[in-house]
Amino acid sequence: LISYFCKNFSMNILVTGGTGFIGSHTVVELLNSGHGVVIVDDLSNSNRNVLAGIRKICSVEPRLYEGDCSDMDLLRRIFDENKIDGVIHFAAYKAVGESVEQPLKYYKNNVLSLINLLCVMQEKDVKNFVFSSSCTVYGNPDAVPVTEVTPRKKAESPYGQSKNICEDILEDTHRAKLPFKMISLRYFNPIGAHASAEIGELPNGVPSNLVPYITQTAIGLRPELHVFGNDYDTPDGSNIRDFIHVVDLAKAHIAALEHLETVTDTGFYDVFNVGSGSGVSVLELIATFEKVNDVKLNYKIVARRAGDVVRIYGNVDKANTVLNWKVKKTLEDCLVDAWRWEQKIHKNE
Ligand code: WQD
Repeated sequence: LISYFCKNFSMNILVTGGTGFIGSHTVVELLNSGHGVVIVDDLSNSNRNVLAGIRKICSVEPRLYEGDCSDMDLLRRIFDENKIDGVIHFAAYKAVGESVEQPLKYYKNNVLSLINLLCVMQEKDVKNFVFSSSCTVYGNPDAVPVTEVTPRKKAESPYGQSKNICEDILEDTHRAKLPFKMISLRYFNPIGAHASAEIGELPNGVPSNLVPYITQTAIGLRPELHVFGNDYDTPDGSNIRDFIHVVDLAKAHIAALEHLETVTDTGFYDVFNVGSGSGVSVLELIATFEKVNDVKLNYKIVARRAGDVVRIYGNVDKANTVLNWKVKKTLEDCLVDAWRWEQKIHKNE
């Protein structure tokens, strides 16, 4: 009986970038929800060991096609060799600083892969599409919390601008009444790791993001954390962000896909903020990390980082009500899980 119900309501999902940080956690939640998964990933910012971690958690190892989404023949082969009911598109370069130095690399990969994917989906008559967008499309918002109707602004980086362009493409695709059912999820700051410590964040080289830099400093890989400015117009002077556990974020993708299954109109597009809904400052996060993990973090206040948004956090009522999704994990959970993961991957060093 269970297999009958699972069979009837399960979907087979192509996850692009499925060995990445958010992608791998979403693959685990898809498998745990009874869905099937096929991954395409060029492994430029991850590695095959992630598949072993997924297998340890789910006892299933999804098929991986190694390659990138600008390769239309590869995409066509994947759709010909697998019954695909929907696509979750994570695959993109995401290093904000690198995007400033290499804009063409970022626009080619992040925008062209979206266009190719939608074209092949149209050829193969696959309609369900969830896009990995980012709160970066709000730029430096005039007011917080931001809602889905807060105007998008030109992003501070080509990375962020590539997300804006992709959302424009989805809006125009919908406006042309092409038969897609699409959702963009605007992520805030994903942090943490699966509680099993079998998968987590694997930053390439020196982390640009805050939490992996904190855990690498705490474990002794980095001498000290630099806090980029405490002279902002915020209560403690440091930037404010909306930090969300990567597992809560992953579950929002399942909720989005299952929402699309209930949509009957052939052309559909909607956008959702996916965050914790509360703002936490950089210094508050550091203090929380030290407290929950009982570690002393070595950090120093330095000059501001160019392009940093002063404060941003999301109003997530729409995802709560329409997708019936809300965060379950606390900031403390995030930082305990992030620390456990860092200790796991470096315990043999
Ligand atoms: C957070 C805060 C820094 C590092 C970016 C992208 C976003 C998403 C997440 C991909 C800021 C401060 C950081 C450090 C610090 N990327 N910080 N010392 O910039 O909010 O968002 O990454 O999807 O789209 O824009 O994240 O973690 O880099 O910075 O003081 O060593 O931590 O100044 O205030 P950000 P972040």
